[in-house]
Amino acid sequence: MSETTERWSSKRAFILAVTGAAVGLGNIWRFPYMTGENGGSAFLMLYVLFVLLLGLPVMAAEIMIGRAGRRTPLAALAYLAGKAGASPHWRWLGLFGGITVFFILSFYSVVSGWSIEYLVGTFNGDLADRTPAEIGAAFNDFLADPYRMIFNHTLFLLMTMSVVATGISSGLEKLNNLLMPLLYVLLIILVGYAATTDGFGMAMRWLFTPNLAAINAHVVLNAMGHAFFTLAVGAGALMAYGAYMPEHQSLPRAVIAVAALDIAVALLSGIAIFSVVFAHGMDPTEGPGLMFVTLPVAFSDLPGGMIWLGIFFLLLLFATWTSSINLAEPMVAMLSGTGIKRSTAALLVGIGVWSAGLLPALSFSTLATIHPVGNMNFFDLVTTIPTDIFLPLGGLLIAIFATWIMDRDTAFGALGARESHCMLWLNLVRFVSIPLLIIVLLSGLFA
Ligand code: TRP
Repeated sequence: MSETTERWSSKRAFILAVTGAAVGLGNIWRFPYMTGENGGSAFLMLYVLFVLLLGLPVMAAEIMIGRAGRRTPLAALAYLAGKAGASPHWRWLGLFGGITVFFILSFYSVVSGWSIEYLVGTFNGDLADRTPAEIGAAFNDFLADPYRMIFNHTLFLLMTMSVVATGISSGLEKLNNLLMPLLYVLLIILVGYAATTDGFGMAMRWLFTPNLAAINAHVVLNAMGHAFFTLAVGAGALMAYGAYMPEHQSLPRAVIAVAALDIAVALLSGIAIFSVVFAHGMDPTEGPGLMFVTLPVAFSDLPGGMIWLGIFFLLLLFATWTSSINLAEPMVAMLSGTGIKRSTAALLVGIGVWSAGLLPALSFSTLATIHPVGNMNFFDLVTTIPTDIFLPLGGLLIAIFATWIMDRDTAFGALGARESHCMLWLNLVRFVSIPLLIIVLLSGLFA
């Protein structure tokens, strides 16, 4: 397979695309509930640490491979392995990434569908003037309704695959440019409101006062998985985007900008949500429903709250849309690399992901009593294993390939940074990221 000549239209467009992939449910939905379930500040500290020591350097490695190969993940790995005289079997890392994003997208689409339901519900007035208990009960009723769950999942996946089928369009780039900043503004307004509630002080203490006693192997593994998930790293999805990166752009600078923004969005969302939790005596360990129960409560205290809530879900939906497009891209790119038409590839991937998504979608109703592993249902399984195990494992192999296998000149050339910065990255990945990844993975699996 030959080199792609396609490029993002500008440096800015590339950064926007990667930001679009990174900022999504991970920041606004997953980060708060994981923090709630994993001891507050303990999880937050580890997550930031892992973003800096693992997520960022591996993100640079992953995008660099895509840029150096200028091919789909599988083909790029095969080509670069060949160039370095290494085993062609490295290509299977591309396939492993494809399997990982397949499972992640299957639940990502289901949960993004919840935003569609809430968007419509807000404008219908379904969420107005309710007590926190009523909002919680309504959420559980919704989860237990197999038809609404499947309907929203289907709708969201159609939205995603129709964009991926035609190739990532410039229309999306323009929307991205407008809507993502709006989402940030709305989050800042929400934090401003949170600061006026009684819960704010408690939320800040709970999030930022170090609590080392809450740290255990499980919390550490969860925080590591989340660092990869939120940065969209470890499955070759950013490798696929790196293939279209413009020629003269510094990769380290781009990934630092994206990671800073990604952390900021997570913190804003965490502060807003936990202020509401503490102000209303709600439960921080609520789990995946946390955001869907707290935000309607928060907005209903604000003047014109339901309109703002609707706008929030609209913006969130947009953020999840750009992330899910990124999740679908490597599978569709790899399939079309085998000669299948892009639109056909998107259809096949769509059908596969839709079917797999039925398992998490029905985990709260039809399949509620089925626990394939321990006390985990399908939803629990698919929201944990691919993120906490597959992404770090993929990230580890990507890091090894980039720093021990690839030819160094090719790697440094594709990083597009000063020699001294490239050396810093190389040593960071080799001697910090890789050993740390191995230790956390092993201790998490066997502890
Ligand atoms: N980072 C996205 C979020 O936080 C999810 C995501 C997009 C992702 N692309 C990915 C996760 C690739 C893993 C791999 O919502």
